[in-house]
Amino acid sequence: MTKRGKIYLGTNTKMYKTIAETEKYLKELEELTRDIPEETAELFVIPSYTSLPAARELLKGSHIRLGAQNMCWEEQGQFTGEISPLMLKELAIDIVEIGHSERRHVFRETDEEEGKKVSAALEHGFTALLCVGETLEQRKAGISDEVLSIQLKMGLQGVTEHRRLWVAYEPVWAIGVNGIPAAEEYVNERHRRMKRVLEELFGREKASVIPVLYGGSVNPGNVVPLISQPWVDGLFIGRSAWKAESFNRLIRMVLQSRTE
Ligand code: PGA
Repeated sequence: MTKRGKIYLGTNTKMYKTIAETEKYLKELEELTRDIPEETAELFVIPSYTSLPAARELLKGSHIRLGAQNMCWEEQGQFTGEISPLMLKELAIDIVEIGHSERRHVFRETDEEEGKKVSAALEHGFTALLCVGETLEQRKAGISDEVLSIQLKMGLQGVTEHRRLWVAYEPVWAIGVNGIPAAEEYVNERHRRMKRVLEELFGREKASVIPVLYGGSVNPGNVVPLISQPWVDGLFIGRSAWKAESFNRLIRMVLQSRTE
C-alpha cells in the first residue's frame, strides 16, 4: 500500500469565474480552510490565466497552492495564444496542470505535446500535474489500462524528477455535466495499475511518492468512498468545488473520514 499521510484535494475552475469571482471564491476558501495543517492536506486551486495575478496576491502566505491550467513547452517564440513557463514563473505559480481531458479532446493535444509540457514544467521548477484518462469507447473495448499506460509512458518520457510530479486519473466519461461518476472499486483498480506503470518508470521507491489523484464527478455522495480506496491519494474536483462552502464541506468530509 502506498497511501501516505498527506492527501491532495484541489480544483480546476476551467473556463469559469472572472477575476472578481475568483477573488471572492479564494478569499472565502482561504478563511474556511485556514485551520487545516499543511501536513494533513495539500489544497490547491487552478483558476483561469487572467485570475492568476490577483489569486497570487490573495494567496500570499496561504497554505492553498496555486496552479495554471496549461502551459507551452517553449520559453518564448512564435506561439500565438500560448503562455510560457517564464510567464508563469513571473507569477510565482506552483503547479502546472497538463493534459486535462478537455485539452486532449477539445483542443486535440497529443501525448507527445503533453510529454514536452511535463518536461518543461519540471525543468522550470513547477509541480507538474499530468492528467490521464480513457474514453468511454476505450473502456468498452477493454483497453483502459493500456491507454493509461501509454498516456503515462508518453507523458513522462525522459522524466527523472519524481518529487514534483503528480498524476490525476480522470476518465473522460466521468467528467463534467454529462459525466457518469466512476465506481470507487473501478477507480482503485486503475490507480493500482497506474502505480505499477510508475514503478516501471521510476522504480518502486521513487514511484511511491508520486501521488495519484482521482477526478470526475466527485460529489458529496462519493467523496468518502473514493478517498477511502487504498490506492487513491487525493481528489481533483470540478463542479462540486466551485463554491468555497461546498469545497470546504468536501474537504471536511474527507478529513473526518480519515479520523474514523
Ligand atoms: P467534474 O470535473 O468534477 O466537474 O466532473 C472534473 C475535472 O474535469 O477535473
